[in-house]
Amino acid sequence: MVSDEPIGSRASDGVADLTLISNIDEGGINENLRVRYENQSIYTYAGSILIAVNPYEELEIYEAEYQALYCGQRLGDLAPHVFAIAESAYRKLCTDDADQAIVISGESGAGKTEST
Ligand SMILES: Nc1ncnc2c1ncn2[C@@H]1O[C@H](COP(=O)(O)OP(=O)(O)O)[C@@H](O)[C@H]1O
Ligand SMILES: [Mg+2]
Repeated sequence: MVSDEPIGSRASDGVADLTLISNIDEGGINENLRVRYENQSIYTYAGSILIAVNPYEELEIYEAEYQALYCGQRLGDLAPHVFAIAESAYRKLCTDDADQAIVISGESGAGKTEST
């Protein structure tokens, strides 16, 4: 089921952008990521940065309908997703005519290659 709910629409499911939470310390961040992970929301923004938590299972969030959903959308208009990062870089490539770089960081097994 495709979710096109705007950011922060369901507080019980955690907050989709860490810059919006009040207790922005390590405990608050981890709690928010945990709540979202339990709801299979593996992606969370920290502003324009995307945090991905490895689900260690196949989630149906990479199908063609998701590609179509994120196509042409601005970062933050939809639920956090790796497609939104790609779309943002591609959009800037076109509008600014400038090279773009996406930095992917994480420990071994975190999901860097999958995200790429
Ligand atoms: N978004 C994801 N959805 C499903 N499985 C994932 C996802 N990200 C990572 N995984 C699983 O975790 C494994 C390790 O991820 P990988 O991208 O190879 O890590 P890294 O490159 O950071 O070492 C993958 O082989 C895959 O089984
Ligand atoms: Mg890798």
